[in-house]
Amino acid sequence: MVLSDLLADTGARLRDSVRLAELTTLRVGGPATIAECATTEALIATVRALDAAGVPVLLLAGGSNLLIGDDGFDGVVVRVVTTRVEIGADGVIAEAGANWDEVVRATVAAGFGGLECLSGIPGSAGATPVQNVGAYGAEVAHLLRRVRLLDRAGGEIRWVAPEELGFGYRTSVLKHRDDAVVLAVDFGLRTDGSSVPLRYGELAATLGAADGESWPAAQVRDAVLRLRAGKGMVLDPVDHDTWSAGSFFTNPVVAADRVAQVRAAIAAHVGDVTVPTYPARDGVKFSAGWLIERAGFAKGFPGADGPARLSTKHSLALTNRGGASAADLVALARTVRDGVAERFGIRLEPEPVTVGITL
Ligand code: EPU
Repeated sequence: MVLSDLLADTGARLRDSVRLAELTTLRVGGPATIAECATTEALIATVRALDAAGVPVLLLAGGSNLLIGDDGFDGVVVRVVTTRVEIGADGVIAEAGANWDEVVRATVAAGFGGLECLSGIPGSAGATPVQNVGAYGAEVAHLLRRVRLLDRAGGEIRWVAPEELGFGYRTSVLKHRDDAVVLAVDFGLRTDGSSVPLRYGELAATLGAADGESWPAAQVRDAVLRLRAGKGMVLDPVDHDTWSAGSFFTNPVVAADRVAQVRAAIAAHVGDVTVPTYPARDGVKFSAGWLIERAGFAKGFPGADGPARLSTKHSLALTNRGGASAADLVALARTVRDGVAERFGIRLEPEPVTVGITL
């Protein structure tokens, strides 16, 4: 069946041979056919029509957590550009394609607290529950009231409670599977305009806040935006340090019975230093950025000539200096991952979703 006929009544806008590099923050990814959906109704109808016809679907919204291969995608990329944001009496409902930072900004401007620590994160609102986006001591799972999902197998649409979503550190039941499409998210907020209790040392220190104190959300948002910008974690088209997928690896949790072994490997390589660690369920969380640097990959690695390099502001972000291919980024990711594994016996896991490419 001809694609334009298949999608004729869905409300989607079809575009052929689009370079996916134009739609991802890493700015890599080969060509594909795109179906742009500006309303939730169009999104539902488009996914249903493609599924019924057996056409492979890739959902793409902000493109900030995707590493797409240079061959592109053989199927249809459904681009979610739904943008409605409704601020209610004690919360906010955002359509999946709404720009996440715009949602945060709007809630803070309306006098609500809760999301301020999650300011400046690239990507869309609908992507936030998928990997339980978090920063500066906050996670979306803490404030989510419900997520509206389209079940692609059964066809039903329903609001799902957080308890059903299996949230963990940078994960949920929605990650690494594509049988559910996020249509909207609903967050409960603090109506007094105060922030969540501040727990992240670096943020509290910037503000001069005591551990666990709440501050006006607007002040916290400003401080978070400044901190993130200093690390190249706020998109800026002219700053190649921000052409990234944020943290490329998650912070590894080492099982309790292996911690001593890892500490010994670190001591053997870098001497008797204080290793930043955080308590985690069933073990200890190490800092991937710290491990990468101590394994010999300084900020900016491998230096002047690489089209793909570590950010010069944060060793955990892999960046495109202009002209990098997906293969260049994968080669860099492997070098870093294997170097850390060899020295410290810890295997770093990538955070972005890979499409048509494996690490
Ligand atoms: N560090 C380095 N070198 C660096 C960066 C960090 O050695 O270049 C070490 C330092 O010891 C530092 C520690 O790593 O104290 C932690 O660094 P940072 O506060 O920047 O946090 P992170 O663990 O590297 C995580 C999230 C970020 C989030 C920040 C702030 C993950 C994988 N990353 O980074 O999220 O913004 O905390 O809360 O959990 C993302 O997920 O894409 C992301 C950017």
